[in-house]
Amino acid sequence: MHPSPLQSQPLLHLLVELYGQQGDRRYGLAELNQRTHAVQAAALAQAQGEPSAMVVAALLHDIGHMLHGLGEHPAARGVDDQHEQVGANWLAQYFGPEVVEPVRLHVAAKRYLCATDPGYLSLLSRDSLESLALQGGPMRAPEQQVFRSRAGWRNAVALRRLDEEAKDPNGPAPDFSVFHDLIVSNHESFFGTR
Ligand SMILES: [Fe+2]
Repeated sequence: MHPSPLQSQPLLHLLVELYGQQGDRRYGLAELNQRTHAVQAAALAQAQGEPSAMVVAALLHDIGHMLHGLGEHPAARGVDDQHEQVGANWLAQYFGPEVVEPVRLHVAAKRYLCATDPGYLSLLSRDSLESLALQGGPMRAPEQQVFRSRAGWRNAVALRRLDEEAKDPNGPAPDFSVFHDLIVSNHESFFGTR
């Protein structure tokens, strides 16, 4: 069987392999795997009318967890995996800042929301709470100011809220292939069709 035109796209091929091979790994301590967390975050972004770059950012925001090689739950060993930097640096090879920067800032956004939204802490899953201290804890006021000066910080906050929501074993779980077209169009809109 010939691959579809989209599957012959090298980036898509890479992502399909990565999420196919590593997506079955458990998402931290949650009762769902990495792939379900990813597609659920993207489906929620779509349902909330987010622009396509945010849907792609939601889909790929934890790709760093699949690239860092530190195992399923490094926070339990006291290790901050810095998956947001690993993921953003990898994605920057393929996407523009509308996709990359919310991914880079989604852990900072958690620290920001912990400091500024009184109800937010109670929404955090057990593993997100566990990694919070390793990531620097709730942001202090000067850090909040720096965070708000970063491009894409509002989208990072929106992405972070989707991240918290997308841990529901009974929530939407579309097939990864539903997002193939969006991945390719976002890639091509930034890098052209070279
Ligand atoms: Fe996440």
